[in-house]
Amino acid sequence: MKCTVCRGPAVIDLRRHNANFCAEHFLTFCREQVAKAIRRHDMIAPGERVLVAVSGGKDSLALWDLLLELGYDAEGMTIGLGIGDYSDASSAASQAFADSRGLALRHVDLRDEFGYDIPTAAAVTRRVPCSSCGLSKRHLIDAAALDGGFDVVATGHNLDDEAAVLLGNVLHWQTEYLGRQMPVLPERDGFPRKVKPLVRLGERETAAYCVLRGIDYIVDECPMAAGNRHLRYKEALNSIEAVSPGTKHAFYFEFLDKAADRFQPEAAVAQDGLRPCASCGAPTPTEVCAFCRLVDRVSGAEPVPVELLRAGRGRGRNRARSRGARQATS
Ligand code: AMP
Ligand code: FES
Ligand code: ZN
Ligand code: ZN
Repeated sequence: MKCTVCRGPAVIDLRRHNANFCAEHFLTFCREQVAKAIRRHDMIAPGERVLVAVSGGKDSLALWDLLLELGYDAEGMTIGLGIGDYSDASSAASQAFADSRGLALRHVDLRDEFGYDIPTAAAVTRRVPCSSCGLSKRHLIDAAALDGGFDVVATGHNLDDEAAVLLGNVLHWQTEYLGRQMPVLPERDGFPRKVKPLVRLGERETAAYCVLRGIDYIVDECPMAAGNRHLRYKEALNSIEAVSPGTKHAFYFEFLDKAADRFQPEAAVAQDGLRPCASCGAPTPTEVCAFCRLVDRVSGAEPVPVELLRAGRGRGRNRARSRGARQATS
């Protein structure tokens, strides 16, 4: 297998691009894909301050590294979700990356600062963990970006994530979510701009990028996500992609080109009538925002270990309200 650019030995084949790359040209390819996404979708202007949401996984660490390589002013933020060993490893990987490059990493810990963790919130609210997890991450990252004077928040959602979320939203015709499933969400009153610069790269590519750049990331996925719908949609798309390379890219980018606009009215209606939360000031359709209500409900509750929650899963306790939890996490 030879590199399509230099004819030297290739280390990776990218079937959807009908190309193979050596290490050097693969890294160049990744930088170019991210630069192209940023340019095409007007994600980040030169000189803007970026807050990167970092989980310690391959995507967000690759994203942070790529943004720095492209010359952006990018600071990291990680949230301690309290999901047992997984969260400890996640914070450690993020901190190790920051330390290795002398970068600033903001850290907010749910238990230390708000008196709860995700397993406990899931048990008390009797909802899937991703529901309180997504809500907490969105709220705290938005708040940190606004407080810290950042111009934009960047997350590590990649092509596989976006195509899987799109499939889920289409299968259930979640029109409001379809209207918001853009690689850029513009800044609005009380919300920072949010961008997904990795939408042109798949997760196999972000993993290879980290390996070639010597970035140590946590390989394990969140234990609470095991078996959820999002992962099943990813598997379904992977089996189609295996026989028809380029399907995922076409599915997502053709949606953006040809259909996403059609769902804007639904998304706009859902965003109408927001007012400041009486408790924290974040925009909300209700008197008190969902995050403050969650904190009020779960803070100080007897901690529930991850293992106990996972054992309860099979009995269906957390299944009933799973719909929408993943779709809303972006
Ligand atoms: P996920 O929903 O776990 O697939 O993560 C999607 C993106 O959300 C990641 O690429 C990160 O940018 C961000 N993210 C996930 N977990 C965390 C975390 N604990 N702290 C900060 N950002 C996170
Ligand atoms: Fe949120 Fe697993 S519950 S990442
Ligand atoms: Zn080459
Ligand atoms: Zn609030």
